[in-house]
Amino acid sequence: MPENLLNQPLPLPCGAHLPNRLMKAAMTEGLADPFGRVTDPLVTLYRRWSSGGAGLLITGNVMIDARYLERPGNIVIDHNEDRSALRALAEAGTHADNHLWMQISHPGRQCSRIVNNRPVAPSPVQLKLLGNFARPRQLEVNEIEAAIAGYARVAGVARETGFSGVQIHAAHGYLISQFLSPLTNKRTDDWGGDPIRRARFLLETVQAVRETVGDDFPIAVKLNSADFQKGGFTLADSCQVAAWLQDGGIDFLEVSGGTYEQPRLLGYNGNPDRQQEPVRESTKRREAYFLEYAQAIRKSTSTPLAVTGGIRDSAFMNAALADDELDVIGLARPLCVDPDLPRKLLQGVATHARRDELDLRLGPGVLGPASPVAAFRALNTQGGAAWYYRQIIRLAEGRKPDTELNFSRALLQHFRDEYRSGFARRRVMRTQK
Ligand SMILES: Cc1cc2nc3c(=O)[nH]c(=O)nc-3n(C[C@H](O)[C@H](O)[C@H](O)COP(=O)(O)O)c2cc1C
Repeated sequence: MPENLLNQPLPLPCGAHLPNRLMKAAMTEGLADPFGRVTDPLVTLYRRWSSGGAGLLITGNVMIDARYLERPGNIVIDHNEDRSALRALAEAGTHADNHLWMQISHPGRQCSRIVNNRPVAPSPVQLKLLGNFARPRQLEVNEIEAAIAGYARVAGVARETGFSGVQIHAAHGYLISQFLSPLTNKRTDDWGGDPIRRARFLLETVQAVRETVGDDFPIAVKLNSADFQKGGFTLADSCQVAAWLQDGGIDFLEVSGGTYEQPRLLGYNGNPDRQQEPVRESTKRREAYFLEYAQAIRKSTSTPLAVTGGIRDSAFMNAALADDELDVIGLARPLCVDPDLPRKLLQGVATHARRDELDLRLGPGVLGPASPVAAFRALNTQGGAAWYYRQIIRLAEGRKPDTELNFSRALLQHFRDEYRSGFARRRVMRTQK
């Protein structure tokens, strides 16, 4: 039998080692309390995922600024954090001697109206998606500097509370990704314009985080291979930024792609008129959304590389490792329905992950993910995520996943819960003013 390369450890530049080549990619949990504090269900969830065998777990978005969340139930680290609860989370999430890294994030303009009607962004370019997002205000330079300090502070808290690394979220159209993209960064000062100015926010964040956590602590970045939007962040930009990040001393790069407008990260397409390029046929066939893009990025950097998105088959994973196309396999949705999958893949008792996402849709034809109607496309994407949010909630409650869960029911339950926790969060914010 050929060697199962998934079991190989991986040394990182900072001196840390990953025990194997499987990573649970970040998934926003929405399970913090209205104050943004870690709850018992979050601790149960990460204990479950830690037992599952992946060498590396990444948390969902943890927010650096209480005013601007990606979802009402995000964990927030903004001076009022409950450190003992964070410690409990870190301990549960590393109990199987795996790594647990905190994903650090700010949504920028992708901050829904449920949370805040006045988001901030590099430039006042509004995200037009079902009326969910208000026009952002342009960040002042002192606010940019404060945000960079915020990422560094959160990274310091992560280290102090027992997380074994951090990941800076620079993908998927959130704040740093907005700085990187010429579509959302129209600034004419030192924070916008040419590629190096657009990358300045990210590079200064990496530097500030490194100064805070020290040289022996893993710093990862999640980066888009492209935005897949006309005039947006391109593969060439991504290759350039990857090289700068290596010079900046990161330990680990995760490649993904897309934004809320072009949700390629989940294998969906957004507005066909605004696409940079169609889905590549060979990528579609191989079901790894970004592997071909990652191959180009690999040529620009020797930073240990993970690729996430659509990868399901262990033979495929082993071939990608054998061909040195990547170092780590990122898995997200499959671990909501089979948290023990990594162990099974490592032991060779499973050969592939479930592909529930292929059947999750509102309906066929015009109701489906490729609908010409933007609202239906958006509902398919949201429903596709909502179905997995429900599975995450079940795991966090100590229950088994429910793979028979109805798509529309999951979507409705998600909207109900999201509005409820949004109102609770707004009440808290009003009292904290
Ligand atoms: C429910 C859900 C929540 C997600 N939340 C995050 C997040 O907080 N941060 C992030 O970087 N990516 C997030 N993602 C994207 C995943 O990390 C991953 O890139 C994507 O699901 C593709 O991987 P997969 O095909 O293995 O699921 C999320 C995806 C899902 C399905």
